[in-house]
Amino acid sequence: MWDRLLTDCNVCTMVPARGDPLGIVRNAAIAISDGRIVRIGKRTDMAGMKVGEIVPMKGLWVTPGLIDCHTHLVFGGTRAREHALRRMGASYEEIALAGGGIASTIAATAAASDEELLRSARRRLHALMAGGCTTVEIKSGYGSDVASELRLLRIAQALATSEPVRIAPTLLALHALPKGADRKAYVAQAVEELVPAVADAQLATSVDGFCEGIGFLPHEIEQLFVAADNHGLRVKLHAEQLSNRGGAKLAARYRALSADHLEHLDALGAEAMAEAGTVAVLLPGAFYALAEKQKPPVQLLRDHGIPIAVATDCNPGTSPLLNPQLAMNMACTLFGLTPEEALAGMTVNAAQALGIDDQVGTLAPGKVADLVAWQIEEPAELGYWMGLPGPERRMLAGADC
Ligand code: NIG
Ligand code: FE
Repeated sequence: MWDRLLTDCNVCTMVPARGDPLGIVRNAAIAISDGRIVRIGKRTDMAGMKVGEIVPMKGLWVTPGLIDCHTHLVFGGTRAREHALRRMGASYEEIALAGGGIASTIAATAAASDEELLRSARRRLHALMAGGCTTVEIKSGYGSDVASELRLLRIAQALATSEPVRIAPTLLALHALPKGADRKAYVAQAVEELVPAVADAQLATSVDGFCEGIGFLPHEIEQLFVAADNHGLRVKLHAEQLSNRGGAKLAARYRALSADHLEHLDALGAEAMAEAGTVAVLLPGAFYALAEKQKPPVQLLRDHGIPIAVATDCNPGTSPLLNPQLAMNMACTLFGLTPEEALAGMTVNAAQALGIDDQVGTLAPGKVADLVAWQIEEPAELGYWMGLPGPERRMLAGADC
């Protein structure tokens, strides 16, 4: 006997079939037991089974719950003034070097109470959930020492407990050098104290860094990756966003789950990523907000068969974006992804970028029944609307939420 049978729906399983990247099943039914999908197929093939509850879906389109695999949701303050400064011609690097940028959010975050940080992050999380996300990655990175980074990850953990959504927590250990700090000592602290403390407390599943001239250089990031490896944590990297520093190649050498941004990725970096199975996470919100000119090399990624994910990169400086549909739309309009690629970017490939593709991201027997149901006429609408009213139904592990 099955717990629930969703009937009268059209499904994008996101398990590609020949000529059909979305793996569509029309007039479908989805059987769920113990929070997992047990069977999925044509409604007519599932007649006569015993079920606890039949849930008529009224012709809605069902997709896996959307996955936002790159966000910086926990922070204090705003950087609206930088938006204005950039419109007057200041660059991201100039603002950062003048003490604005990430350093200013680190200060505003330190000044905020735990309650304030929790409340504002919860509001942002609710916006992503309202847009159809059932999984959201949250990075730390706006702390300047071990205690402040642990604090941000604890807030992410509190959200994971209180909100009906799956949170994937990432330690963003080398993000910006705090003002006046000694580089070597700061990196050493991240490597010798921060990574072990986070691993011990099980507060993150992966470790990230910002590999850039205004961030940290490859030899510093490499020390971080070695520490992560030693503590059983996977790695990811903000790479080749503003310049090519060889970050993607380095990430691939450490079997990174993902390399993110990638506007300046070259062929060698792409080859290394393909070889390592590293996902390319594209972040059109940051490209747009910084009015960048160089686009990520999408055709190069396709040619190498690198899975492409799409995320909001929600953060106060470069991507104040809280709408997953707009992220997919921008990935199509700005970067040239097809709507099918954009949807794969926020489902199956995003799951791979978080190392949870054995659980979520596709609708197939054995996967967790995390899904959303949309009032649309065809799946291409999901990369077309610049924001939708949101899904009609959300289910997390088979339960309405
Ligand atoms: O993904 N590049 C580094 N990290 C963020 C920006 C963070 C910030 O500016 O506050 C990003 O774009
Ligand atoms: Fe980021």
